Amino acid sequence: MQFRTFVSAALTVAPVAVSAAGQLGFAVGNVNPDGSCKTQSDFEADFQAIKDNTHSTLIRTYSSSDSFGNLCNTPSEVLPAAQSAGFQVLLGMWPDGGVYDKEKAPIVDANVEQYGGTLFGITVGSEGMYRGTYDAESLIEWIGDMKQTFPNTKIGTADSWNCWTNGTMDGIIKSGLDLVLANGFAYWQYQDISNATKTYFDDMAQALAHVQEVSGSVDGIHFMNGETGWPGDGGSDAGAAKAGTDNEETYWNSAICAMLDWGVDLFWFEAFDEPNKADAIGDNGEAASEKNWGSFDAERKPKFDMKCGQ
Ligand SMILES: *[C@@H]1O[C@H](CO)[C@@H](O)[C@H](O)[C@H]1NC(C)=O
Ligand SMILES: *[C@@H]1O[C@H](CO)[C@@H](O)[C@H](O)[C@H]1NC(C)=O
Repeated sequence: MQFRTFVSAALTVAPVAVSAAGQLGFAVGNVNPDGSCKTQSDFEADFQAIKDNTHSTLIRTYSSSDSFGNLCNTPSEVLPAAQSAGFQVLLGMWPDGGVYDKEKAPIVDANVEQYGGTLFGITVGSEGMYRGTYDAESLIEWIGDMKQTFPNTKIGTADSWNCWTNGTMDGIIKSGLDLVLANGFAYWQYQDISNATKTYFDDMAQALAHVQEVSGSVDGIHFMNGETGWPGDGGSDAGAAKAGTDNEETYWNSAICAMLDWGVDLFWFEAFDEPNKADAIGDNGEAASEKNWGSFDAERKPKFDMKCGQ
């Protein structure tokens, strides 16, 4: 029944949208394979690779300052690069561990609203409620503070689809944020590739339906799939979910292209392999590599055709 709610909501929303197709975005890290902070020219190379191989003109980042102990000052590097490349950026903040102010400072320093439409919005946090690294009260306060500081910018947060579905995020939905990013990984749900698209659609349908119900509006909040993806060759398996570039390409063609056709905006996790990235701990408590999730390798070469038949 969640599925049916989603279909009717999509039909209601569809005529409002400028284009029926969802917008394809990419998750992009802010460090180079050698661990150094990405500069403007590194981001320019990222944008060029995405532009040459996809129809996307949108990325999201995760942290504005610190990454692997580096002070990156990402907003001042990525926004000018995006502006010249004709891309939009959903700028991420990583406030976990008491560094909200440290994450906010580079955004203020970059005077981000001067970039106009290049700045798609700002997300405060990514899956921190799921991980339990901050609480709803803090998140609501931070979102309110960002809305006050940047009144012309869409502010939101990203979290796991089940947190948006099961009530964990209800207070945040009601607090009046502009953007909801629901992350959903059939892979982390240990799904065989043959059932992965179905699982992904079910996750998004449930998250969207709940957000619409709690907000009391079908289009008051801009709903996006904040992350989805599949690890390529060299990645770890997760139960029946087998890593491999063949499966990654299958997931792209069945899940990503179909979700875009359905009119849902999404971010593919992730654009480029990150050989430096630390392992993630899966729901089964086992370490799993997050180095090979790019649809491009670390040298920005595409692993497969990302055009969705266009
Ligand atoms: C909601 O789902 C998250 C993620 O699975 C879980 O950690 C949390 O305990 C759940 N909350 C409730 C109220 O069921
Ligand atoms: C396939 O995905 C659906 C939707 O998430 C789920 O209900 C079902 O249990 C999955 N099938 C298998 C065999 O895991």
